[in-house]
Amino acid sequence: MLLDKIETPAVLIDIEVAERNIQACQDYCDEHKIALRPHIKTHKLPRLAQAQIDAGATGITCQKIGEAEVMAAAGIKDILLTYNILGPAKLARLRRLHDEIKLSVTADNLAVLEGLSEAFADADWPLAVLIECDTGGNRCGVQSPQNTVELAEQISQSMGLRFAGLMTYPKAGGTADVQAFMTEAKGLLAEAGYDCATISSGGSPDLHQAHLAPVIKEYRVGTYIYNDRSLLVRGACGLDDCALHVLATVISTPTPERAIIDAGSKILTTDLFGLGGHGVIIGHPLLAVSALSEEHGNIDCSRAPGSLAVGDRIRVVPNHACVVSNMVDQVYLMDDGKVFSVEAVAARGMVV
Ligand SMILES: Cc1ncc(COP(=O)(O)O)c(C=O)c1O
Repeated sequence: MLLDKIETPAVLIDIEVAERNIQACQDYCDEHKIALRPHIKTHKLPRLAQAQIDAGATGITCQKIGEAEVMAAAGIKDILLTYNILGPAKLARLRRLHDEIKLSVTADNLAVLEGLSEAFADADWPLAVLIECDTGGNRCGVQSPQNTVELAEQISQSMGLRFAGLMTYPKAGGTADVQAFMTEAKGLLAEAGYDCATISSGGSPDLHQAHLAPVIKEYRVGTYIYNDRSLLVRGACGLDDCALHVLATVISTPTPERAIIDAGSKILTTDLFGLGGHGVIIGHPLLAVSALSEEHGNIDCSRAPGSLAVGDRIRVVPNHACVVSNMVDQVYLMDDGKVFSVEAVAARGMVV
């Protein structure tokens, strides 16, 4: 299928760019002997998860059990679930996954460990549990290196569980904080008799600084495969490294200064990521996606009045690629300007 046959709005993935991003990241991790465990929340496509594994990733990361179930059903054999799992229904699903694949999870409190132990007490082999640490990201995670010892003790004493190490999702620019926190925690755990088989960190903005925290043995990245405007403005990638574009059609030009496209918040999302506007328009540096309603996008043409006409098609690099993947049932995989696959976004909407 040729590009001009695609109905808009549509999400296009340039496979050559995505594969280049996969390889560059893998090469970097190989060079620094860091295991790579990509987060599939960015693409939600088994095909690309497999491409990441084929390039050398040790396994994948998922945030939700539903995502992990989709990936396991598609043949992915090693999954880290970076989420506190609570409640009998979810624990039963987790147990089923554990029976099928090499599964590990994270936890940051005793209540979660209690639930995991109850669900896994009679498992044939123990569930690997990493302690989540808050190294400055202000999300989940134990608050100090000292707190890891209590949880490691609890894991070791819990039927059906095995202490597997430490995990963090730091804030951007937090590499030094990760190194300090994890080094101290690792030392305290060693004194208490616990070995950290894995210490896992992540985040695309600081991917190429991962080696500056040598305590880290594994790195989890999601956005790097597609890149987006949030990484572009940080200088973490170039426009040519952005693999995901939203293709949209100009449906109205109410004034020379304003054009309206058929992509609104239901495809570009309202995720601003602290940025002004909703994306970068390829080939039109003077135009901006200035406002969105659900199905309409406003293009500010005031710096180049009249530069768009009804029927024109534009490509937008969104602020945040991962949330855009979650908005569409299918994406168009492109190679050399042609669609070679219309791929179902199999893990789309898997938030449970
Ligand atoms: C736990 C965890 N690990 C890794 C990542 C990957 O981050 P990025 O998309 O910046 O590569 C995320 C992103 O949300 C995450 O939540």
